Amino acid sequence: MAKKDLNAKAPASERRVSAQPRLHQRAAEIQKYGTVSHMLPLDLEEPVRLEMTEQLNLMLADTITLRDLYKKSHWQVAGPTFYQLHLLFDKHHEEQAEIVDTIAERIQLLGGISIAMAADVAETTRIERPPKGREEVPVQISRLLDAHQIIVGNCRKLADRSDKLGDAGTNDLVVSDILRTNELQIWFLSEHLVDAPLVLADQTRLRDAS
Ligand SMILES: [Fe+2]
Repeated sequence: MAKKDLNAKAPASERRVSAQPRLHQRAAEIQKYGTVSHMLPLDLEEPVRLEMTEQLNLMLADTITLRDLYKKSHWQVAGPTFYQLHLLFDKHHEEQAEIVDTIAERIQLLGGISIAMAADVAETTRIERPPKGREEVPVQISRLLDAHQIIVGNCRKLADRSDKLGDAGTNDLVVSDILRTNELQIWFLSEHLVDAPLVLADQTRLRDAS
């Protein structure tokens, strides 16, 4: 059992200087999850910040999940398009990681608490959990597109709501950072699901036209 640190409880004037790190510390939380600090000079009312941080936390959980789905796809991709998809998935992963940080820091600056740990993210996200095993490319891409669709759908709702509540900062973040990036990534992924010939042109359509 660890020795009791009597020095920590002594009055400040009697404390000895020690090189010993104070390890294994625990204490009560300083702010409960799901609350916002009361007085912040943002000129944005507490109920607005409460609603926005709640919605942004849902968006954060979905974005963390999509970010991780990209890394899973980056590692597990297989087949003739391995190299290009391996690189594309990692590029999108990096871009989603940027968005994660931007959302989390907006929640904190609004006085709220950002969701952070994997178990909490898993409980909160609206994105379907993929299997632990490896899946073929069209399924990987379809899962990513489904996740993007959930995010862009909620972006449009949150952009509208933040605009109505006068939270211009959240509105700008949702449209400029989250929505735009997700729309572009959707395009890059979708084009991989077009069944275009790779080597032999489809001459049947020429014959049908003549
Ligand atoms: Fe890698």
